[in-house]
Amino acid sequence: MSERRTPSDPPSATGSSTHPERSDGTRSVHGGEREDRASDALTVPIYQTSTYTFVDSDQVRAYQEGKLSRDEYGRYGNPTWRAVERKLAELECTDDAVLFASGMCAATTMFLAMLPQGSHLVVTSDCYRRTRQFIRQYLTKLGVETTVIEPADPAKLESALRPETKLFFTESPTNPYLRVIDVAEAARVCHARGVKVVIDSTFASPINHKAIADGADLVIHSATKYLGGHNDLLAGAAAGPAPVISALRDAVGVLGGVLDAHAAWLLLRGLKTLSLRMERHNANGLAVARWLEAHPKVRRVWYPGLASHPDHAVAARSMRGFGGVVTFELEADFEGTQRFLDAVRIPYIGPSLGGVESLIEMPATMSYWDLTRDERYALGITDSLVRLSLGVEDTADLVADLAQALAKA
Ligand SMILES: Cc1ncc(COP(=O)(O)O)c(C=O)c1O
Repeated sequence: MSERRTPSDPPSATGSSTHPERSDGTRSVHGGEREDRASDALTVPIYQTSTYTFVDSDQVRAYQEGKLSRDEYGRYGNPTWRAVERKLAELECTDDAVLFASGMCAATTMFLAMLPQGSHLVVTSDCYRRTRQFIRQYLTKLGVETTVIEPADPAKLESALRPETKLFFTESPTNPYLRVIDVAEAARVCHARGVKVVIDSTFASPINHKAIADGADLVIHSATKYLGGHNDLLAGAAAGPAPVISALRDAVGVLGGVLDAHAAWLLLRGLKTLSLRMERHNANGLAVARWLEAHPKVRRVWYPGLASHPDHAVAARSMRGFGGVVTFELEADFEGTQRFLDAVRIPYIGPSLGGVESLIEMPATMSYWDLTRDERYALGITDSLVRLSLGVEDTADLVADLAQALAKA
């Protein structure tokens, strides 16, 4: 009974300290849920409102003077968001979290909030294409210079840092080659030079990697992927120490990329099964990667859980599972690879990843369709490259389906 709260109790400031003794399965279900109950409803309601009213002027004054913690206007806060934010903070084992309208909105708001004019940024080469586009097309307008380095090479990272470098940003695992960054080593190198480390942990989820515990200053997510988990919403999130999240919360209030309350509720519901779903994604990923690696029609497989992956040692040391995305190259040309894709029956052909339904795509015709073949090859996106996001279907059914499709490649 002791943890029961009434609606008037102030929410705890830090998600992480609420139940440090609990494991991710329990955090997924209960994290953030009991703080702010307006009724005895078991589940957090959808607060479908744009504004919050005050009983009188004294209440307005108490709020403005910081003596009353409450909501005011929908761009600055929503109780449904707060439940999601607290749950995510617990899962990332950090102070706080903030939501955004999409993963791109999380990235762009983070860059704008954390990079001063004229500063320098270091990023890894196979980051999400639109993130790289934002850096190239918009950050340059603020005089921000960027150095792009190969992932997973701390020596390259160290030599890329300049006196004006403020941020090292990378995904981990990256897309599509699933390179895994040694976050502890990157943080050691960067912190010695006063540089912050931000990890896009979309492909890992907080179940597979606790980047903050490894030394990252901030984690961001496309919550559209594993966090939501059902291919039915777009959302973004950032998690980290309270002062950093407070700055991002202020920035989202100005830039305006706020999440709709209904999407926040779907995300809250999705998060309850995150730990459970990740177990199946991880099991499917490892089983299918091993099976593909042994198949004569498969030239090469990239999966951090395989000993053949360049970052297997780092992944085995720092991750609790390797996720549901497997990238592979077929022993086939462009047309043969398309025939394989068209023959697959369980995974849908489509972009995105991390949902319960398996999705499959050829980066050459999906994310990189508008590049020439030479431009694609320069980025390592070959004609026979396939990215498979394994859902939570039965492993044996997925393998049988891939087997019949490979026979047609
Ligand atoms: C690693 C990564 N980060 C960010 C994004 C952007 O997220 P969203 O589509 O939710 O805007 C994506 C999208 O595919 C992604 O793969």
